[in-house]
Amino acid sequence: MPRIVVCRMIPDAGLKLLRAAFGEEHVHVAPQDGPIERDRLLDAVRGADALLPILTDRVDGEAMDAAGVGLRVIANYAVGYNNIDVAAATERGIPVTNTPGVLTDTTADTAWAILMMTARRFGEAERYVRAGNWGGWGPMQLLGVDVHGKTLGIFGMGRIGQAMAWRAQGFRMRVIYYDPARPEVDRDLAATAVDKPTLLAESDFISIHCPLMPETTHAFGPAEFAAMKPSACLINTARGPVVDEAALADALKSGTIHAAGLDVFEDEPAIHPKLLDCENAVLIPHLGSATEETRGKMARIAAENIVAVLTGKRPPNCVNPEVL
Ligand code: GLV
Ligand code: GLV
Repeated sequence: MPRIVVCRMIPDAGLKLLRAAFGEEHVHVAPQDGPIERDRLLDAVRGADALLPILTDRVDGEAMDAAGVGLRVIANYAVGYNNIDVAAATERGIPVTNTPGVLTDTTADTAWAILMMTARRFGEAERYVRAGNWGGWGPMQLLGVDVHGKTLGIFGMGRIGQAMAWRAQGFRMRVIYYDPARPEVDRDLAATAVDKPTLLAESDFISIHCPLMPETTHAFGPAEFAAMKPSACLINTARGPVVDEAALADALKSGTIHAAGLDVFEDEPAIHPKLLDCENAVLIPHLGSATEETRGKMARIAAENIVAVLTGKRPPNCVNPEVL
């Protein structure tokens, strides 16, 4: 019987499926609910036929070799798979799968929520109330900026970027996007493709929805902040390293840009100390897909991909289909 290694406790929907398919005793779930250390990861994967890592587990060639030649599938519990060395998996003929689709709207909801919080200063306002500082309504108190009618710039117009564009329609926003891989999208979105300088210059809000790749690492740094409107807000629910966090903290402090809403960070769970004391930064702990419903669906999809491979079928969400 195969050995399935689940690197972190995940919702039952996925575990049930794996246990039903392979038997309770063959599904090994990391006992602690915390990040698994490198040594323990390398140890835990030994002899695995299937791995179900989460996005903080780095699965590189070394980890694949630690699992051994029996490793037949890596089913990442995330849509992003920058934690997996896909080239190394492909070299070894191992399919890598992800969980696209089910978290699209949930992640766009998160981006929208922090966009609103950022524009309307609701993080700061909450801190103000809880600190006991509120003396009553005031005409000039905690004034934010409007979202409706403004220009939203979407950096990376995949599934989540497009879901963001749909939300913007309800707020009667003008939507522009930059995505070299996707020159055209659904016309009903009424979104216009632009080059990166135009996106930077014309957006009131920029929301990042690209995958992390060498080409997108530090796609937002000092030059980009300088090219943005001083009134602009930057939203990132994609991956931390797309933004140069130290440069962002400087831009927020100096007023080069107005505010930022961040769900992801360069070196999670560490956050640049300067950002932590920027009142104009909304900071939440990588909650993009964090709803009961969506995390359950992600667990089920990751499990379905494992079941497919180990029963000789085509996994539905393979990111390196050339190995199949
Ligand atoms: C979350 O960050 C994901 O990639 O699913
Ligand atoms: C604000 O509370 C208003 O009524 O204008």
